[in-house]
Amino acid sequence: MSTRLATAKAVIALGSNLGDRRANLETALARLAREPGVRVLAASSWHETDPVGGPPGQARYLNGVAQLETELSPRALLTCLLQLERLAGRERQGQPRNGARRLDLDLLFHGDARLSEPGLELPHPRLEDRSFVLEPLCELEPERVLGRSGLCVRAQLSKLTSSASQTQAGTPAPAAVSTPIVRLDSPAAAAQWCRDARAAGRSVGFVPTMGALHVGHLELVRRSARENDLTVASVFVNPLQFNDPRDFARYPRDFDGDTALLSGAGASMVFTGTLEQFFPGGLTPEGRLAEALWLEPGPSAEGLEGKHRPGHFRGVATIVGRLFDTVEPQRAYFGQKDFQQSLVVKDLARSRGRPEIVVCPTSREVSGLARSSRNQLLSAPERERAAALFAALCEARDAWLAGERGAEALDRLLAASLAESEVEVEYAEVRDPERWSATSCSGPLLRAVALVAARVGTTRLIDNLRLDEPIGGVR
Ligand code: PAJ
Repeated sequence: MSTRLATAKAVIALGSNLGDRRANLETALARLAREPGVRVLAASSWHETDPVGGPPGQARYLNGVAQLETELSPRALLTCLLQLERLAGRERQGQPRNGARRLDLDLLFHGDARLSEPGLELPHPRLEDRSFVLEPLCELEPERVLGRSGLCVRAQLSKLTSSASQTQAGTPAPAAVSTPIVRLDSPAAAAQWCRDARAAGRSVGFVPTMGALHVGHLELVRRSARENDLTVASVFVNPLQFNDPRDFARYPRDFDGDTALLSGAGASMVFTGTLEQFFPGGLTPEGRLAEALWLEPGPSAEGLEGKHRPGHFRGVATIVGRLFDTVEPQRAYFGQKDFQQSLVVKDLARSRGRPEIVVCPTSREVSGLARSSRNQLLSAPERERAAALFAALCEARDAWLAGERGAEALDRLLAASLAESEVEVEYAEVRDPERWSATSCSGPLLRAVALVAARVGTTRLIDNLRLDEPIGGVR
């Protein structure tokens, strides 16, 4: 007879505004992961927010959420959370309500449980009013439908953020909104804002995106916020780079939700615009961009993505060039996730002498699946199948670490690994990252990056992994 107990997925919120806040949160997660009957599946990034209520003069909070798999009942899990709070040095008894605390752990969900017992209400009764919980939750479970409002996490967060910004001075806001962000609806207004920032001597870091933001995007924003005085993000689903109109039409869009996430991650300004606004007077009567305004990408655009998505990098180079002209940043941040794109962008920046391009590691889900806005389009079984991409990349990496250097042998290995999965492969190749060429590599390699593109159902995913470097970005 099986002795396995039924498991449930639980979600908890973590907060700290006393002592080494990050260490308090990370220690709590590590301790939780060692509890019998508890597995930590995923954690959001940490968001900094103002304290809500409580005595004046408190430090800002770091907040996050984590998904757990647990065999513990809701009550037993809550007891475990309270013990972790005590271990971190928090006494609930005798402390002022909403006072400063080293660690605050709340149980938000436990499977589908609906409970209303003393000290234990599920789902958590104040969750839907707290943007400081919804923001990190939106990274992990944007589509989860909330019981009271009937809205999904993303939509409820958008609603809270827009009502908070409309709240009159003197009226208490429904929830803390982290660093206020300037939101501009035109590239012209953004260019003016950036000119003013530069005139005031502030350094500007820039993160261009197409929205539907996830932790991977936010990590670029946080890195920029650490390295620059001000961080600007753009959200623009760029029609020039989509070679398939259906892909463009179904690309997820949520500017309100994105603005809330960017604010939490430390961006100072976000802007969007229309193609016409980016290229005033530059569209033909059919709405196409005039030939003279396109930028031709360099040789890095050849092969792989360039071959399978004809015109894609021309569209990327053209909009990124225009975005750089608008923001004129000191530094611009891109993800390793789109490896070939980062090469194209580096070529572009080199040809203009600026900005400095910073490439950040790929952020991954616990399964290894690279985070992507398109992951939202995957069903649960497709998401499981999609983990095959990273598994194949890891197999190639294992072979590299075991001494394999032959490009053909590594390509065969990738192909064999993917052949066992239920994904439809477009390409899977190992290349020298510093000597890009239009065609596949052959012979022994000194450096290597493995790149794959595959369709899972109707969704196209890409991923890559440096074989010659430690894996970064897995969280
Ligand atoms: P988008 O796909 O929204 O990605 C914006 C930036 O986030 C890119 O630099 C991308 O590489 C990075 N990114 C995406 N997923 C990531 C992950 N899992 N880990 C780390 N970084 C990640 O790439 C584009 O938009 C567009 O082509 C753009 C550059 C904005 C031009 O339109």
